[in-house]
Amino acid sequence: MSLSPQFLDELRARTPLSTLIGKSVKVTKAGREYKACCPFHNEKTPSFTINDEKGFYHCFGCGAHGDAIRWMTEQRGLPFMDAVKELALAAGLDVPAPDPRAAKKAETARGLHDAMAAAQNWFVEQLGGIEGAEARAYLDKRGLSEATRKAFGIGFAPDSRGKLRGALKEFGDPMLVETGMLIQPEVDGGKARDPYDRFRGRLMIPIRDARGRVIAFGGRILGAGEPKYLNSPDTPLFDKGRTLYNIDKALPAARQAGRVIVVEGYMDVIALAQAGIHECVAPLGTALTEHQIERLWKMVDVPILCFDGDSAGIRAADRAALRALPMLRPGHSLSFVTLPQGQDPDDMVRGKGAKAFEACLKGAKPLVERLWQHEREAGSIDTPEARAGLQQRLNDQVATIADPLVRKEYGKAVQDRFFLEFGWGWRKSERNAVRGFIARSLEEVSPKLATISQRVERMTHRAILLGLSRLPQILYSHREQIVALHMPTATLTEWKNLLIRASFERPALEENLLDAILADSSLGPIERRNIQHDLGFSFFRPGADPTMAEQDLVEVIEILRFEQELTAQLARHESALYAQGDESWISSEDWDQRQALLAQKRQNDERVMALKANIEEQLLAA
Ligand code: UTP
Ligand code: MN
Repeated sequence: MSLSPQFLDELRARTPLSTLIGKSVKVTKAGREYKACCPFHNEKTPSFTINDEKGFYHCFGCGAHGDAIRWMTEQRGLPFMDAVKELALAAGLDVPAPDPRAAKKAETARGLHDAMAAAQNWFVEQLGGIEGAEARAYLDKRGLSEATRKAFGIGFAPDSRGKLRGALKEFGDPMLVETGMLIQPEVDGGKARDPYDRFRGRLMIPIRDARGRVIAFGGRILGAGEPKYLNSPDTPLFDKGRTLYNIDKALPAARQAGRVIVVEGYMDVIALAQAGIHECVAPLGTALTEHQIERLWKMVDVPILCFDGDSAGIRAADRAALRALPMLRPGHSLSFVTLPQGQDPDDMVRGKGAKAFEACLKGAKPLVERLWQHEREAGSIDTPEARAGLQQRLNDQVATIADPLVRKEYGKAVQDRFFLEFGWGWRKSERNAVRGFIARSLEEVSPKLATISQRVERMTHRAILLGLSRLPQILYSHREQIVALHMPTATLTEWKNLLIRASFERPALEENLLDAILADSSLGPIERRNIQHDLGFSFFRPGADPTMAEQDLVEVIEILRFEQELTAQLARHESALYAQGDESWISSEDWDQRQALLAQKRQNDERVMALKANIEEQLLAA
């Protein structure tokens, strides 16, 4: 229906906006305007203003904006004409006579609604009747209570091509075809054929609009078969992409709970409601549309998407995430819950109850995290080119965000995440672990717990690990030797493994781990001194020339590694010789080899001794 602009202006002028809004939210006067806590988003300090003179409201927090009519449609959820009628009634105005075409359309819609309501009643009757026995048994098996069946208006369509058509014949075939309840077959060879019932032998789940009117059905097959769900086609009443299943019940529940949960299926919504969680909706077997996302954002700032724990569910979540990105506005987002593999919300509440499901919701991840994970798992990250590719993909996704503020924040968040994973710094868990290793390894070199030679051995190796923690680049240049270097205690082995693992996980580590630990404010003075303790190696000393420190550290690693290697080789050689029995049988070749090894060992032993003497001296001096 078209109303003249003059009439609408008159209507606005006669409607004091602050009074109208004051019926639903607490309004206080502030100068020439009024203020309130915004009813369109959650807030504690009012940023919602009402200007009676100009006849509009505006929220500085979420950008909600409109006049009296907009208020009635957005906040109260009324269709435009109903809003106008209600305002006109309050203002004592007559709504001008509608134009005949629009009146006819409204009339038809009314007819379609009546037909849907009649179909709905008939399906419920059938569920209770003789033919409904199998469907009732099915509902019993799925554990749906009487109260739940009633609340969701579940019914049954008997397996017949003409029963619904007969029962609803007062509406006439054309209207029943228009509602999608009947299928009109193609004209075949010039012979028109009768329309027949679309839903046959199925459990009927009515789909309602925001005002609770039935606008479509989802029909579930009782046993196995295809398709599992047959849905109404799009009709003048039903637009799949603009509808959310259970929106009418979820609206008030969401306002109360302060959250809304999006699940994949009808049965998930129903099972959750039976478990006491009423603020749930579902799209209708398609990916979440922009329209549906906007609808959800009118309910809460951050709807929770809880899709099934299978590959289809993960794909659906990713698709929703990418679709929401361009639409993001300050304060609005989506969060994502992943259910355990192979479970849907229905399985979960039925098996483990609402508590288990609530626990899953607690683990909801923000959209930015989902985006990161999606791109991170999309390809390899083993080479610099692959990591650059990841950055590129993330940047491309971030670039789709229309809102400049949100885009900027996403850029930063994604960068941070990137450096957390691939960056050159140490993680907090690693810093804490090494803090523990430093303390424990210090006890292990105390005179109470070890002999002098054990202490020297442990201190040398401990010195290497401290050196590597200070100069992590050596982990990359001498990885093989370090991996092969045997550590004399379990603590030192764990410490070594942590360093090696970190070097495998990240392309580079340039941060001095000891400095990172020392930067921790929770460090006490004794622990601080222990870490700064100078053992006389250049790679220990904070002020040492880095090139020299690196050289010295590598040398110590090589000396110790060589010592271990030669000792092992000699032992192998020796046992091979003894296995041959009489020493006089030793071939000259074997003999030469043995002599060479011994010579090498003697040479290296001198270096080892010098190294250890250095430590022993310091030990005794301490
Ligand atoms: P699911 O296959 O996950 O079904 O489809 P479900 O909700 O777990 O159903 P039950 O527990 O097996 O009964 C999720 C949603 O996808 C749409 C429906 O909206 C369904 O609720 N769907 C699924 C269809 O439209 N057609 C189908 O054939 C299957
Ligand atoms: Mn299911």
